[in-house]
Amino acid sequence: MKGKRIVVGVTGGIAVFKAAALVSQLTQRGAEVQVIMTQSATQFVTPLTFQTLSRKPVALDTFEEKDPSVVTHIDIADHADLFVIAPATANILAKLAHGLGDDMLSTTLLATQAPVMIAPAMNVHMYQNPVVQENMEKLRNLGHIFIDPGSGQLACGYVGQGRMEEPEKIISAIEAFFHRRKGKLYGKRILVTAGPTREPIDPVRYLSNRSSGKMGYAIAEEAAAAGGEVVLISGPVHLETPPGVTRQEVMTAKEMHDAVMKELDRADVIIKAAAVADYQPVRISKSKIKKKEENEELKLKKTVDIATEVGKKKGSRLFVGFAAETDHVKRYAQEKLRRKNMDMIVANDVSLPGAGFDGDTNVVTVYDQEGMVFQLPLTTKKMVAKRLIEGIGDRLHGGS
Ligand code: PMT
Repeated sequence: MKGKRIVVGVTGGIAVFKAAALVSQLTQRGAEVQVIMTQSATQFVTPLTFQTLSRKPVALDTFEEKDPSVVTHIDIADHADLFVIAPATANILAKLAHGLGDDMLSTTLLATQAPVMIAPAMNVHMYQNPVVQENMEKLRNLGHIFIDPGSGQLACGYVGQGRMEEPEKIISAIEAFFHRRKGKLYGKRILVTAGPTREPIDPVRYLSNRSSGKMGYAIAEEAAAAGGEVVLISGPVHLETPPGVTRQEVMTAKEMHDAVMKELDRADVIIKAAAVADYQPVRISKSKIKKKEENEELKLKKTVDIATEVGKKKGSRLFVGFAAETDHVKRYAQEKLRRKNMDMIVANDVSLPGAGFDGDTNVVTVYDQEGMVFQLPLTTKKMVAKRLIEGIGDRLHGGS
């Protein structure tokens, strides 16, 4: 962080108080911080707070040119290593997505070529508003990095997603960002799937499995730490999004399929650690199925096999699948690797203690089309993820 020039754009929301802590921590870590506040932000906290914490005058007005030798917003834009907008309101997201420049922050953002990190904060319904979501999607596609807001009690009284991420988490994301630039996956887009899928039976019941998402999330975290631009397509789990990772939530195999297919074109690497349901009910009852005297039979049909679809369309992308097996692990895993046209497969023998679903550890053997690549005895999922990402990094750089 030392010597890095970070521009913190502060927009008008109650989370401005967290931005003060963020600026303080960045300055303490040796970053050179330039704060730009919008007029609305100054309604919550005075510029003097940020000036004191950053030890620099706060930029407020595009036309307040104190130094005649430079055009301030262009000067700030040109010298930034990173822009962080925290908190980011729905308004600044809209301006950024549509190229508006009507104040100091938006004109500087238009002029910069530095990467932009965005920590949104707003009311849950504003956050869920399709227009806001569309703007964020557009910005994500343009390469802006999002630090998703957390869920909980919001200042407006609602409970839900919209609370700006804590300053410590934003600092971790910034550190990871600078670290990533040196990593083997820098410049590569990595698509990771994680967790289970849920196939509804009726409004209160579903078919699912014991996947916790831990394996996939560990992979996403390591891939981001190695410099990758990571999109994590996740089934329902109770895990936090790893720093610097963009998460898309899905529920069913069909939703996971659609999300993967939408992202496939732009991905360089696909890692499928999700435990996708193989079957779904033929019919989803609109109302709760009532208990009867006699037994109930549930008719199932196959779900779409996402891995097979990816295998058909992957082109030169590196495709890494998983196999959760209880017997003939090697044979079944290698068959899957070939059948689904994967480049590598991570086989976990889920009959072994400490392997597979739910826990923090795993036991894996990784195969490619040539045979075994490496084997790890009982170890943490974090270590499995680290070794896998190292292996993928080597492959992308021509090693094996
Ligand atoms: O989430 P955790 O609790 O940490 O547990 C980790 C894990 C055991 C879920 C993980 O390590 C793992 O093995 N994931 C894949 C589990 C699985 O579904 O394996 P499979 O052998 O049924 O499927 C083979 C591959 O095809 C997998 O890459 C799977 O994502 C994919 N698949 C399967 C079915 C389907 N309809 N579509 C798919 O894409």
